[in-house]
Amino acid sequence: MNNKILWTLAAAGFGLTIASHSAQAAGDPEAGQAKFHTCVGCHGIPGYTNSFPNFHVPSIGGQHVEYLASVLKSYASGARSHSSMNAQSGSMSNQDVQDLAAYISSYKGSPAGVAVKGDAIAAKKNAKLKTCTACHGNDGNSSDHANPRLTGQYEDYLAKALKDYKSGARKNPIMQGVTQDLTDQDISEMAAYFASQKKGLTPVGN
Ligand code: HEC
Ligand code: HEC
Repeated sequence: MNNKILWTLAAAGFGLTIASHSAQAAGDPEAGQAKFHTCVGCHGIPGYTNSFPNFHVPSIGGQHVEYLASVLKSYASGARSHSSMNAQSGSMSNQDVQDLAAYISSYKGSPAGVAVKGDAIAAKKNAKLKTCTACHGNDGNSSDHANPRLTGQYEDYLAKALKDYKSGARKNPIMQGVTQDLTDQDISEMAAYFASQKKGLTPVGN
């Protein structure tokens, strides 16, 4: 291989490095890990639950970096409301958000391993599931990073999120639109389906 080809390959590699850094929006995963110490008591314990209402604190390890940054900003502004998360994110700088998102998205942990109760098999025969998988991916590992990964998320958290969009308690024009015609049975089946898929989200720090 001559020098010119080597140089071209090195330049292409350098370009890729820059591209992948900017995809992570300049977050520093090591700084994010240090900042995560206030989060680990809730997001690091497999099976940990929120009280009133009672549901599992979502698994966020391996979630898409863009979605993480976007939701942390919506908790900070109050657009998405949950008292602990509004308090946690209220004083975050943009750099804190990017660092935390970089750390959480790159975290490789073990699934929480909570048994799924709903009928995941019925979901596959439910015609409405195709609408969801078009954006969230066949197994919930969406390739478009604006759409959150749902794979292996806690079933009760998924169901709560869907009910919150349907009622308008959680605001997002796309998700409010697609949840309007979901019955309680649809919600239960879809939550069971995405929760039971493998190779997905994990608690962070377990
Ligand atoms: C007291 C427990 C608690 C602490 C501490 C906490 N969280 Fe949360 N977090 C929750 C709960 C409960 C939810 C789900 C709230 C809802 O339904 O909107 C949540 C939601 C989230 C979400 C959205 C998940 C999704 O799939 O949309 C992210 C991201 C997140 N937390 C990150 C963090 C980070 C980063 C910290 C530390 C700075 C933190 N949390 C600290 C309990 C906690
Ligand atoms: C056009 C694309 C699109 C379609 C179709 C769609 N979603 Fe979503 N979904 C999104 C986006 C974008 C978000 C993030 C919204 C936000 O920031 O609150 C989301 C959020 C969610 C969440 C919350 C995840 C979390 O971590 O809190 C769940 C659960 C969900 N979708 C399930 C579904 C189901 C079930 C269907 C089918 C009935 C569906 N989605 C259809 C794009 C889509």
